[in-house]
Amino acid sequence: MKFGSLKGVMDFAIQREEEAAKSYGKLCRIAEDEAAKKLLADLQQEEKNHKRILQGLTKAKVRASATKDVKDLMISDYLVEEPLTPEMNFQDLLIFAAKKEKKAVALYSDLAKKSMTKEQKALFEFLAKQEKTHKLRLELEYEKHVLLED
Ligand SMILES: [Fe+2]
Ligand SMILES: [Fe+2]
Repeated sequence: MKFGSLKGVMDFAIQREEEAAKSYGKLCRIAEDEAAKKLLADLQQEEKNHKRILQGLTKAKVRASATKDVKDLMISDYLVEEPLTPEMNFQDLLIFAAKKEKKAVALYSDLAKKSMTKEQKALFEFLAKQEKTHKLRLELEYEKHVLLED
């Protein structure tokens, strides 16, 4: 399935940010150590921030002219299949979240490439960079937990 318009992509991105904030909130509640809790609370805050940034963009009425045609973007390229089961442990959930971050990086990188104004490009590049950092932080946290278990 493809996106019909820039508004479609933006609505999708806003929804993903909302979901990301919610799942970090949940993960934060089940995390057992303080460092993990702090990391997840940080990520939750940043995703909330991303949502606000994107909403601000749509409010400022990003004209279609500020972005090249986004109709060739495929929705499935930015989604992770949900293998979520109740048996998933904390580490599994961290990895799952990291995979979602990878898709978020792809989405914002593609939007940056399609931006026709410097401002818009910079904004999507900023978001892509933050999501990349999120992925890395989750992977480091994952390693820590795996090492602790051994
Ligand atoms: Fe985000
Ligand atoms: Fe993120």
